[in-house]
Amino acid sequence: MKVTVVGAGAVGASCAEYIAIKDFASEVVLVDIKEDYAEGKAMDLMQTASLNGFDTKISGSTNDYTKTAGSEVAVITSGIPRKPGMSREELISTNAGIVKGVAESIIEHSPDVTIIVVSNPMDTMTYLAHQSLELPKNKIIGMGGALDSARFKYRIAEALDCPPSDVQGMVIGGHSDKGMIPLTRHATRNSVNINNFLSDERIKEIAAETRVGGATLTKMLGTSAWYAPGAAVSSIVQAIACDQKKMFPCSTFLNGQYGLNDICIGVPVIVGKDGIEEIIELDLDDEEKGLLQESASAVKKTNELL
Ligand code: LAC
Repeated sequence: MKVTVVGAGAVGASCAEYIAIKDFASEVVLVDIKEDYAEGKAMDLMQTASLNGFDTKISGSTNDYTKTAGSEVAVITSGIPRKPGMSREELISTNAGIVKGVAESIIEHSPDVTIIVVSNPMDTMTYLAHQSLELPKNKIIGMGGALDSARFKYRIAEALDCPPSDVQGMVIGGHSDKGMIPLTRHATRNSVNINNFLSDERIKEIAAETRVGGATLTKMLGTSAWYAPGAAVSSIVQAIACDQKKMFPCSTFLNGQYGLNDICIGVPVIVGKDGIEEIIELDLDDEEKGLLQESASAVKKTNELL
């Protein structure tokens, strides 16, 4: 499988690196507008191939989309990341034009591609891709929930002093500090509900820490995080490449599901070779339903800025 990753910044390069290390793709093309930047990152990564034992061929391109022709999956990370104190929504005016242009250039050379949107504000950028591209709904996926869920599991594992691989948990809703909905009621350690081990107060704290997971790192790093975002995208690419039928919360176009219409927002979906193959409708309780409606209203407000 050939994969294009647009944006050779920290998230794009980390995504390319994880895809290569997992060794399921034949080729990754990194694209960036900065002269020689993607080529340099690709060369640096290729020099790790013999050390890390992968056969994925990584190449770079300065804005030449002919090199991306025939990609089955394309990841869009282009645009500016947030700085400390900024919300993801503040990036819209810069990133909307970039994401639209990039998506159109990808499709021109790979009409059957599945697009994964990472650029922020992610749910709105995913909606923009739906509005502006002639692609079926299942072929446009917004990456947010897989990352937020990984951060949720990290926080639960920290509280339980256990490995994150022992933890199951999911975050739905918008990929924003206020819009994320960590489903604490469903979170478990190896099928045992976390409320067997943690107080209600501690669980509330975990939910709050999860919602500001990205903001906390932006403050510490001076820019947006990249390892976990890169790893989360690479897992979704792998689910498509290997037809895994894996469940992730992803931003997807809703057409009546959860009582929502004309919006892209994070809900659990099954990802396989056809992209989003199924949208899972969870039986949410009244509180969770209310939070999802609130989260959706905020996403719609940002969509209006388009
Ligand atoms: C984050 C960015 C990718 O949450 O939105 O780190």
